[in-house]
Amino acid sequence: MRVPFAAGTDTPSLLWWQGVIYQIYPRSFADSNGDGIGDLRGITDHLDYLTDLGVDAIWLSPIFRSPMADFGYDISDHTDIDPIFGSRQDAAGLIEAAHARGIKVVFDIVLGHTSDQHPWFQAAASSRDDPHRDFYVWRDGPVPGSPAGGPPNNWTPGFPPGARAWTWHNATDQWYLHSHLPQQPDLNWDNPGVVDAQLNVLRFWLDHGVDGVRLDSINRLGKDPQLRDNIPGLPSRQQDWPVVHDHLRAVRKVLDAYPGRMAVGEVWLFDQRQLMQYLRADELHLAHNFVFARLPFAARAFASAIGEFTELAGEDSWPAWFLNNHDEPRAATRFDITPGETDGRGPGGSGHDRARLAAVLLLTLRGTTFLYQGEELGLPDTPVPAALATDRNGRDPQRTPLPWRPPSKAGPGAGFTAGTPWLPIGPTAETLNVSSEGNDDASTLNLYRRLIQLRKMRPSLTRGAQDLSLVHDHVLAFTRHTADETTLVLLNFSTDAVTVDLTQFPRVPESGLTVAVSTHTAGAGTGRLLGAVRLAGLEGVVLTQAVTLTPPGGPASRAVQPAAARRRAAR
Ligand code: GLC
Ligand code: CA
Repeated sequence: MRVPFAAGTDTPSLLWWQGVIYQIYPRSFADSNGDGIGDLRGITDHLDYLTDLGVDAIWLSPIFRSPMADFGYDISDHTDIDPIFGSRQDAAGLIEAAHARGIKVVFDIVLGHTSDQHPWFQAAASSRDDPHRDFYVWRDGPVPGSPAGGPPNNWTPGFPPGARAWTWHNATDQWYLHSHLPQQPDLNWDNPGVVDAQLNVLRFWLDHGVDGVRLDSINRLGKDPQLRDNIPGLPSRQQDWPVVHDHLRAVRKVLDAYPGRMAVGEVWLFDQRQLMQYLRADELHLAHNFVFARLPFAARAFASAIGEFTELAGEDSWPAWFLNNHDEPRAATRFDITPGETDGRGPGGSGHDRARLAAVLLLTLRGTTFLYQGEELGLPDTPVPAALATDRNGRDPQRTPLPWRPPSKAGPGAGFTAGTPWLPIGPTAETLNVSSEGNDDASTLNLYRRLIQLRKMRPSLTRGAQDLSLVHDHVLAFTRHTADETTLVLLNFSTDAVTVDLTQFPRVPESGLTVAVSTHTAGAGTGRLLGAVRLAGLEGVVLTQAVTLTPPGGPASRAVQPAAARRRAAR
């Protein structure tokens, strides 16, 4: 079935993956057994929290067997669960419990590389004649067989900067390719055996009831088969090679054999024209948009990136937006500058307030919203002292455990763990935690809850068309509309108050609109606004026909239950 997504139209009906998808970083969500590391039972025990938040789906960063050189993105067995997270039964229990609440489940599948401890690589590394040798990419150096001759080409991995994408394998006298860590050898997708094996991994999890897959580093599935050097200033030859689209069509065929499934790709490219090549009826349903995620905090920058996406989008390109994930610094930190200062990009304001404004944008824009655990609490990055650092690429600060309760009441584990958390819990946990914020109308958690609730009540916000404009240097405005209703979103990126004339928006009804959500006031407004609206500095408002949003506070407290009750609920 074709679903036209052309931007100017009111899309008739939406599918689940066009809603709000919440990323869980399993190590840091909730620990059920006191070992200090989050696990699957911890997630199952806390599903009520996600029901109250109102998300449509959860995406779990990898939970498969792994030596954890890259915390699960280095897989040694694609179809087993790592014991640190639980068992296959726990995974089945989580999927079932999520489905019982109407929450879909997305697994993170790494198609392009494995762990060096995977039996395929172990076999491949055992001898040049091993049948699995060609599952990976092996080459002699320019001086055959000599490490002194240097690697076969000048390719570099995604990180760390300055590293090379080849490691010399002494036992068999050849180099192997890795687009990430040396512990993550690249699979050779030119080998049909690899394609078959990896498509079977997909089928395995789809057969187990997974609703969607997030495909890690997917643009790296296609590389120049001649392995020619990258030339500075020209597009990289080690990724985004046209053959990647053949591979994605094969992936999509597998998914399409199952009803209602979805694939979102981590398309780690910084040009929306390239991104668009992946969003096709026979390729990806969704793609993470890194252009958007890395924008400076400026109305103009957001307006132009969103406008560019809309212009480029074909009828199968449904937008998806995110501001945070487990790899990027958190928005509350990234957007932070010292008050009163400008960084040359934006007009001032603290990261916390800026992130709240950006949240209004994220949840009202036309398209799928990806949230990353903790952003709904307004968490900043947590400084991790060098002695406690775990990630080779410096991403610990955005991966620290989710605080469920204030440490003064719950102890140093902040309700995340009864033991010692694997990474330190942030110094902000006393106020920025699920239980305290659940009871505070003005909290960031309740801002997110109201925005998600409103989105569900207003068809204009989900399926409606979108008209976007800059109405002032620092004010981004857009209407979302169906034939029956209009919602207007106004976002003031500056720290100065601004008055916006409502009569400039042709779709605002003569009867006016009401403030349904504001970053600055906890409750919805009751008065109708007709002529103009005054926005405080860094204020974002969503104006719509009168709605009543459930008073926050109550249900969120359910998320924090005593352990015994949680155990019962998990059964
Ligand atoms: C993706 C993941 C990142 C991981 C890398 C290698 O970028 O998001 O966490 O390190 O792929 O698998
Ligand atoms: Ca645990």
